[in-house]
Amino acid sequence: MIDLSVNEESLKHNIEKARRGHVILPTYAQMKDPGKVPEKIKEKLKNVGLWDVDPLNLFRITWKNEARESGGLFQDVPNYIEFPSALTGVPCRIVAMVGKWFPTGCHKVGASYGCLVPELVTGHFDATKQHAVWPSTGNYCRGGAFNSKLMACDAVAILPAEMSRERFDWLKSIGATVIATPGSESNVKEIFDKTHELSQDPDNMIFNQFEEMGNVVWHYNVTGNALADVFEAIRRPGDRFAGAAFTSGSAGTLSAGDRLKELYPKSKLAVGEALQCPTLLENGFGAHRIEGIGDKHVPWIHNVRNTDMVIDIDDEDSQRLLRLFNTKEGQKYLREELGLSDEMVERLTWLGISGIANLLCCIKMAKYYELTEHDVLGTVLTDSAAMYQSRIDELNVQYGPYSEFEAKLDHSIHMLGEKTDNMLELSYWDRKRIHNLKYYTWVEQQGKTKEELDALWYDPEGTWDAVHAQAAEMDKLIEQFNEETGVLAEL
Ligand SMILES: Cc1ncc(COP(=O)(O)O)c(C=O)c1O
Repeated sequence: MIDLSVNEESLKHNIEKARRGHVILPTYAQMKDPGKVPEKIKEKLKNVGLWDVDPLNLFRITWKNEARESGGLFQDVPNYIEFPSALTGVPCRIVAMVGKWFPTGCHKVGASYGCLVPELVTGHFDATKQHAVWPSTGNYCRGGAFNSKLMACDAVAILPAEMSRERFDWLKSIGATVIATPGSESNVKEIFDKTHELSQDPDNMIFNQFEEMGNVVWHYNVTGNALADVFEAIRRPGDRFAGAAFTSGSAGTLSAGDRLKELYPKSKLAVGEALQCPTLLENGFGAHRIEGIGDKHVPWIHNVRNTDMVIDIDDEDSQRLLRLFNTKEGQKYLREELGLSDEMVERLTWLGISGIANLLCCIKMAKYYELTEHDVLGTVLTDSAAMYQSRIDELNVQYGPYSEFEAKLDHSIHMLGEKTDNMLELSYWDRKRIHNLKYYTWVEQQGKTKEELDALWYDPEGTWDAVHAQAAEMDKLIEQFNEETGVLAEL
């Protein structure tokens, strides 16, 4: 459970700071349904760019932003792409919600808000005294730095040195303190070590997405319900929601699957990881190139007992398809040979590397369960190719110039050629094996107790369900906070 007891003194500091900074906090009810955002805020948002460091952009922490760089308001159905069968090679309908239209171009800004807001409205974090520390493989700390900046508090971003250059450039531009830890994507232990060092100083408050239940609350309530809204909007007579697949970094997004399985009890939930780092599939390890996911450990907040399948994606597949979707020769092939519309070809640039991996997970899942045109699978595109231009340039140097012939090969081999290998439908004991792996990171290294670990397995009602329901309680605290600052009333 998230501790929602209040520290009155720090809370007063936070209220004062928010008043001075003109900060209004959105509630969960508003992030789920931006129709509830007050008209005067919407009016002002018409003059605010999507990435502007303007506190009003906190209201754009929702899947339902209009797909506009500036001045956008909200829509009833989240931004999504439905991938044509000509591209995927499977009859099943695959839909993905789009992270590009969040501030920072990535939905992780939601997870970071989910972790920050309970600490802020309870006063466990004192924004006037403490630095907010965001350990991450990139996008979460960008979201955290953005949210911290909106609150005018200091942000420290910790991420591996080998992450894409775009992430570092942006963090510097926003004025965050950046700490680069050794290694790449899957070197999370090194991040934890640095975090541990910083946590010795009481002036630092660590927002560890891998263990913070705020991450869970946000995705369960906001992402899960948003994906259900997409399904209901596109559902045709006889259609069923067959399941969802998400690659896991912190496992926050997977909490959306917990919500979807409640709404559609026959649906399945799959977790994806890189084949080059098969921790869930084989207790394995390794370095890989699907930035943002798979970190040689099982995150504390992964509800493994509710996960039905593990799917491993070869990182070569996602790199090849990144090139297919983002080079003019690749786009010519997609248009002329597959007959995709200009709009669809443009939308395929809304897939970052992990988004491509998510799509491949859905294709493998569709093949495994022999899904038909009446089945719908859902996923997310965490960020877009805009975050990986430097990677595309590197691939062009590595493999030489692209061609339509190579585009056809990449599509045939790396997408149509996906098979039901490197995946596992999880039995009770397969799930338990994965859950047990948490012991080594969380009990041995990170200070959790065996009893807490057991509770995540044996007491889902007192742990996961109870945490999911905390959004309502948090909304009350957020509303009180906004009343105390008086910023909304004066707007
Ligand atoms: C690009 C990208 N994809 C996927 C993920 C995984 O999402 P989650 O942390 O919710 O599991 C992340 C997490 O940071 C990410 O940055």
